[in-house]
Amino acid sequence: MKNYTSINDIDNINTWVSEAKTLKENPLKHKSLGQDKTLGLLFFNSSLRTRLSTQKAALNLGMNPIVMNVSGDAWGIEFGDGTVMNGNTAEHIKEAAAVVSQYCDIIAVRAFPTLTDKEKDESEQVLKSFVEFASVPIVNMESATGHPLQGLTDALTISEHAKTAKPKVVLSWAPHVKALPHAVGNSFVQAMQKMDVEFVITNPEGYDLNPEITKDTPIIHNQEEAFKDADFVYVKNWSSYDDYGKILNTDPSWMITKEKLGAAKFMHCLPVRRNVIVEDAVLDSDSSLVIQQANNRTYAAQLVLKKILENG
Ligand code: CP
Repeated sequence: MKNYTSINDIDNINTWVSEAKTLKENPLKHKSLGQDKTLGLLFFNSSLRTRLSTQKAALNLGMNPIVMNVSGDAWGIEFGDGTVMNGNTAEHIKEAAAVVSQYCDIIAVRAFPTLTDKEKDESEQVLKSFVEFASVPIVNMESATGHPLQGLTDALTISEHAKTAKPKVVLSWAPHVKALPHAVGNSFVQAMQKMDVEFVITNPEGYDLNPEITKDTPIIHNQEEAFKDADFVYVKNWSSYDDYGKILNTDPSWMITKEKLGAAKFMHCLPVRRNVIVEDAVLDSDSSLVIQQANNRTYAAQLVLKKILENG
């Protein structure tokens, strides 16, 4: 594997989950694999988990991570081809990616969507420009439309906590005060479609995710009906896809409560807004897997880096 930019880069998710579990049992076993190799982490947006867990993963493999907050600390990067750069951007991606490639053996990039320009967001201009103009492998640390490190993490977490051979997994929308991207939801859908699970999505009318991603996964607009007999409830807000980037609904009755959750386990990628997305009683109970999920971010990232390093 050269790049890891999408859940579609996973050839067999069951094998990957199994390999991640093995890494988790002995995280330092491959400490010499990344010796004298450098991982560059470029953040166009904020992060806690991705920033720290991906560095930890690199350190476990013996790599040296170097981190840059691109938006705040670097020159403004121009991505357009043929642009007359007489505005706010001072450096073109062609030079920036080539230069960073000389310092790093792998480059990881986080770049969120605009949520105002659907066509631009779906073009994945930032991520694809790094793939095109860097001379080293690229890892997606959450792009405009996908968060594949999170999706792999979630598959690992469900596999670890499943009590039946084919658990029922529900992806539920929940309300939020800000317009949020579709990336986590998209990658979770793609990961679950590769897993042996009974998978349904529930969201209000007007909030269906991109049909090219949801494909034939059932979408139920009644949350209570969707939650029936669920083993895992994965919760995430996203803004409208059809009315792109808009908040159409803030109905608090979609918030996750202990009563609604029943015997199911609660999952969320974090950060999560308490008593908006989910009530305290869920997060403060044994039903919540959010801390275990965040821990697994290290092993998902470590597996991806290991595969890239082994590919040479
Ligand atoms: N889940 C996740 O990606 O967290 P951060 O945004 O803090 O990295």
